[in-house]
Amino acid sequence: MSESYFQETASAPETPLDLTLRPPGFDDFHGQEKVTERLMLMVEAAKKRDDVLEHVLLSGPPGLGKTTLANIVSTAVGSTLHTTSGPQIEKAGDLAGILTNLQRGDILFIDEIHRLHPAIEEYLYPAMEDFRLDIIIDSGPSARSIQLQLPKFTLVGATTRSGMLTAPLRSRFGLLNRLDYYTHEQLAVIIERSAKILELQIEPEGALEVARRSRGTPRIANNLLRWVRDYTQVRADGSVTEKIASAALAMIEIDMDGLDEMDKRLLEVMIYKFNGGPVGLSSLAVAVGEDASTLEEVHEPFLIMQGFVKRTPRGRVAMPAAYTKIGADLPKDPSGQQNLL
Ligand SMILES: Nc1ncnc2c1ncn2[C@@H]1O[C@H](COP(=O)(O)OP(=O)(O)O)[C@@H](O)[C@H]1O
Ligand SMILES: [Mg+2]
Repeated sequence: MSESYFQETASAPETPLDLTLRPPGFDDFHGQEKVTERLMLMVEAAKKRDDVLEHVLLSGPPGLGKTTLANIVSTAVGSTLHTTSGPQIEKAGDLAGILTNLQRGDILFIDEIHRLHPAIEEYLYPAMEDFRLDIIIDSGPSARSIQLQLPKFTLVGATTRSGMLTAPLRSRFGLLNRLDYYTHEQLAVIIERSAKILELQIEPEGALEVARRSRGTPRIANNLLRWVRDYTQVRADGSVTEKIASAALAMIEIDMDGLDEMDKRLLEVMIYKFNGGPVGLSSLAVAVGEDASTLEEVHEPFLIMQGFVKRTPRGRVAMPAAYTKIGADLPKDPSGQQNLL
């Protein structure tokens, strides 16, 4: 299977396709109605008061539209967007450099904000709250602290792990927004829009078939659509039907529920190697040969949402649906598997 069509990582780099298909405004951003409604209201209110937008946090699994929304908000308020990410800011000086470059009303987008260094987070608090930066210059006996006044700016933070944000940081955001997985119907609309941009003809049933296998994630939907387009060009002709979409996706081993090889391997390992669990994340990561954070941020949320896996205080447990999915017999003695019932 070609990884680029499907593999979703916690910090997937932007591809040219992402940029082409990225909706430029709220009108083209389909789904997440609660979040977009709140953001639009905030933008309108700030504009009416001629004020700067409050800080906004966007959280949710990768590929659901966090970066897209940051861009849309910035366009909607007509401000400049500065983009960086938690791991990119290594020293307090890096942050100072970024902050002192901002103009009033600018938006600073910090992706993966949960990965900010704790020492740097401390500098961010007064900057967010009072638009003030306390920096220490020199070291040793001549060290002194100076205060810089910053222009009023908006911080938009994005995170795949809102649970990992510290309480003080979280409390400094005016608005917390959680993005959820998209329904098949919503994804089908997004796929039809992307197909139009890619000049690909697709039937509504074809779009729905791609949607069903996209794990509730627009980025995956777009990537699968790209594969379906290649497939159609070579193996078929004209419009993408349900049958063509299904054959194309079977060829890259995406199953009917959107599970990929890693998902299935995870379920197999849980059931055959760890007896259905409970099993800890790090043991699972070693057993399947994948990074624990990728399992936790990418694979697990979807498997939990679909009812294949349950997270318990003692570890991860395979649910009956997981046994069915990989064709294993349900455990005969349910006593060791109370979590299933
Ligand atoms: N609601 C949406 N409507 C249409 N396309 C979307 C939507 N959300 C995301 N996308 C598409 O998915 C891609 C990935 O979204 P992105 O904002 O980069 O996700 P995140 O930052 O949450 O990982 C975008 O390039 C865009 O094409
Ligand atoms: Mg992003």
